[in-house]
Amino acid sequence: MITVTRIGKHLGAHISGVDLSRPVDDDTFAQIAKAFFDNEVAFFRNQKITPEHQVAFTRRFGTLEQHVRKESRLAEHPEILIVSNVLDDKGNAIGSQDAGRFWHSDLSYKKEPSMLSALYALEVPIKDARVLGDTSFASTTAAYDALPEDTKRRISGLKNVHSYRFYRAKNVEAQKQEQASGGRVIQEQVLSEEQLKSVPDVETPLVRTHPVTKRKGLFVNEAHTSHIVGMPPSESEKLLSELYQHIIKPEFVYTHKWQPGDLLMWDNAAVQHKATFDYDLPLRRLMYRTTVRGTAAY
Ligand code: SIN
Repeated sequence: MITVTRIGKHLGAHISGVDLSRPVDDDTFAQIAKAFFDNEVAFFRNQKITPEHQVAFTRRFGTLEQHVRKESRLAEHPEILIVSNVLDDKGNAIGSQDAGRFWHSDLSYKKEPSMLSALYALEVPIKDARVLGDTSFASTTAAYDALPEDTKRRISGLKNVHSYRFYRAKNVEAQKQEQASGGRVIQEQVLSEEQLKSVPDVETPLVRTHPVTKRKGLFVNEAHTSHIVGMPPSESEKLLSELYQHIIKPEFVYTHKWQPGDLLMWDNAAVQHKATFDYDLPLRRLMYRTTVRGTAAY
């Protein structure tokens, strides 16, 4: 029997009583899916799973994506994106070292943005008995509900552009600044023109209706939103900045402290997330991410 324990005020639940290394029957899967969509972020502890298990379980929710960053995919399982600070024998990064630098929703720059992502923790950095490398999640549905009515009216019908090129430029700039102030060195992953062409900018509603729960949420994020369509740049920047600050108010945020063996899923149509880079080698962090394709936002 599965047990669902809510952790955060608006989001986050611990699901216990499930062993993901074994086939999950339809009834149990339906309970997990309900708990997931009700809580927007859900995690299982102490899972001993292989990439095959992770792929098989997350595929139950829909088609799995293969990330545009080919170099960071797990060779035998291209549906898995390696998220890690670990280097191989030659000193090359084995995965994406900077995923989650900014608040974002996964693959929101795609015409069919991701429905959900699942991150499996293999190695977690610990220093002085303190776990590092937390991931924070903010509920964009709770944030939308809490907006004043006049703001809801103001943003109703607006569209924003989500752009992978915008993200790349922002990320390169942030990395330069981080390094200039003595921060981590990240190996830049150069994307070919062909790779970039596969992720053209998309225009998408700023207020999105969740495809399953039908709740409204704010579909803007600091990583991927380049601007609001048809608005003067200064006005667009001001409104976006107000919305970003609102979304990450503490009451809308759940921060996850990882344990090896956690499999945590988040609902990309309902939350944004951000990684915490408060660790560096020799402290290792190794995660495997699968991402389920969603449907066009409306
Ligand atoms: C991600 O943004 O997909 C990764 C988050 C994390 O590593 O904490």
